[in-house]
Amino acid sequence: MTVTATGSPNTFPDVLIVGAGPCGLSVAARLREQHPSALFTDAEQARYRWIKRHASQASIKQSRTGRTEPGKGLEAGSMRNRKPSILVLDNSGAQWLAKWTRLFDAFEIEHLRSPMFFHPDPQDRDALLAYAHTQGRSDELVEITGCVGKEISKHKRKKRRDKGGEARAEVTIDERDRKDYFTPSSAMFQDFCRHCVERYGLDEEHVIEQGTVQDIKYGAVTIGSADMQVFTVRTERAMYLARTVVLATGGGTPTIPKPFSPDVAHGACHAMNLARRGLPDPSIAAKIRARIPTNVLVVGGGLTSAQVADCLIQRGVTKVWLLMRGQWKIKPFDVNLSWIAKFKNHQQAAFWSSDSDQERLQYVHEARNGGSITPLYSKRLKQHIASGRLSVACNRVVATQHYDCETRSWTITTDPPSLDLPAIDYIYFATGTQADIRSIPCLRSMHKDFPIRDVSGLPCLTDDLMWKSDVPLLVTGKMATLQLGPGAGNLEGARQGAERVAWAIEDVLNREEPGDGDDDQRSESVSQRYVAGIGSMYESLEDDDQS
Ligand SMILES: Cc1cc2nc3c(=O)[nH]c(=O)nc-3n(C[C@H](O)[C@H](O)[C@H](O)COP(=O)(O)OP(=O)(O)OC[C@H]3O[C@@H](n4cnc5c(N)ncnc54)[C@H](O)[C@@H]3O)c2cc1C
Ligand SMILES: NC(=O)c1ccc[n+]([C@@H]2O[C@H](COP(=O)([O-])OP(=O)(O)OC[C@H]3O[C@@H](n4cnc5c(N)ncnc54)[C@H](OP(=O)(O)O)[C@@H]3O)[C@@H](O)[C@H]2O)c1
Repeated sequence: MTVTATGSPNTFPDVLIVGAGPCGLSVAARLREQHPSALFTDAEQARYRWIKRHASQASIKQSRTGRTEPGKGLEAGSMRNRKPSILVLDNSGAQWLAKWTRLFDAFEIEHLRSPMFFHPDPQDRDALLAYAHTQGRSDELVEITGCVGKEISKHKRKKRRDKGGEARAEVTIDERDRKDYFTPSSAMFQDFCRHCVERYGLDEEHVIEQGTVQDIKYGAVTIGSADMQVFTVRTERAMYLARTVVLATGGGTPTIPKPFSPDVAHGACHAMNLARRGLPDPSIAAKIRARIPTNVLVVGGGLTSAQVADCLIQRGVTKVWLLMRGQWKIKPFDVNLSWIAKFKNHQQAAFWSSDSDQERLQYVHEARNGGSITPLYSKRLKQHIASGRLSVACNRVVATQHYDCETRSWTITTDPPSLDLPAIDYIYFATGTQADIRSIPCLRSMHKDFPIRDVSGLPCLTDDLMWKSDVPLLVTGKMATLQLGPGAGNLEGARQGAERVAWAIEDVLNREEPGDGDDDQRSESVSQRYVAGIGSMYESLEDDDQS
């Protein structure tokens, strides 16, 4: 299809980001950051990637002669002269993190789950920690227990075991990293994100617009007298053109477990949708006010299920039943500690060198092992069990369900059947989301025009997180799990994804619009060389010395 547009290429953005959540913010901030270093502690990976991609262009030192031959691609004049222009579209609101904020408010989440180095700021890995201290808000950090401590020697562990004592769980984090294993208050994290938004000028007018992206197409558009390959992005209200598009739309479709209908409309709600309806549902809140006993079923097993159960009890529901299809798993984070702590490079190297996408998926499943609950919330649940307000049933699924519209209650049986459930007034599905690239409505045209492979719904993108090497639709967040690893859907994955996306976008835009070699470009080029660790690190001081 050929679209004809009026105006000039300057009237549409270089980058259109769909989604203003943590992933969208990480990408936008990274695109505006000249000297990213947040990733560079675990950044051999980034550097290797850079060198791999740009080896032919980078300076090469001949080991025999000792002479350095400058690379072509990094010579002054090769880089674009300006930062990419950005437009963000989000259907939750015209602010950053609108959906995130709504969910945190709905579940009354006081602290994040993740450690201090999980955040969207590309400038510095320790930026959130530094923010807490400079703002005098260190008292809002809560230590994540059970992660850090003196490692016990093998000898000591064996001795304890021989004595019949329990060997302490293997601790994989050194004492010196203790400062990282705190979690920020939700309020502080949001203020930090706001600070990041302001620093990068992402609060300027017209950076974010509210709208649901309904269709994305890529193809030739005639602009003035020239034909350009661009994206045409349609929302319910408007049509946009963009050179590149970043899809940062989150984790996918809420999972409704069988035997419930996927479009179950009455007496039930998925936790990801409850921000709109409030917790508990108005029908339950009315019963609580009228002092009528209430029974609510929560299906899940992850942290959301624990938080929903806890909130319901705090807000007056008489009895909550929490049904888990597996074991009750207690973990500080959603992925195993070995993917976060000092041996994570080892895990990631194994992941990246997997022979197939299936093998990568296997790593992801092992690292997450389904949903899990933090020690803090497990303790809260146990208190509710002790008070008789909560029953937790593990290794059980719903076998049959029937909703009676007159009594407005559910009759539920389980498999195995031993659980005797009363009439249930309301059901919450805290069953997570299914990342299925084929179920994202706005990608229908992309699937038709540029089909790609997927493994269990996860798209097989390029290493740069691109749809195809000649289609600059970039995908980040949980949808990029096969490329980023098990942490793709959390805040650390958001920053890693942003790094790859930014490199790819720069490449695409450079190809379209090479620079003209003025001073700004030279200094940008020198910065790039510095960040990538190429050439002399003192090169960037050259001008100052001469002046
Ligand atoms: C309650 C909760 C707490 C969490 N806490 C943590 C934590 O403490 N630490 C951690 O590391 N991870 C945490 N996570 C996991 C993860 O970090 C979050 O899910 C995070 O929000 C993912 O960011 P995202 O940008 O990919 O997705 P989202 O935050 O879901 O943002 C996607 C945005 O895209 C918009 N969108 C979707 N489709 C369209 C469309 N077609 N058109 C326009 N806009 C669209 C949505 O409205 C949304 O605003 C948490 C998750 C949840 C649910
Ligand atoms: N910061 C916070 O306080 C906070 C709060 C909430 C969530 N989070 C984060 O947000 C992310 C999502 O958490 P989540 O709890 O919503 O989802 P989740 O971690 O994916 O857990 C979903 C749970 O639902 C179960 N489930 C999935 N499909 C099911 C089915 N068909 N039938 C029965 N059970 C089913 C899963 O069982 P299995 O375990 O058997 O797979 C799992 O226990 C996680 O990364 C979490 O850490 C953070």
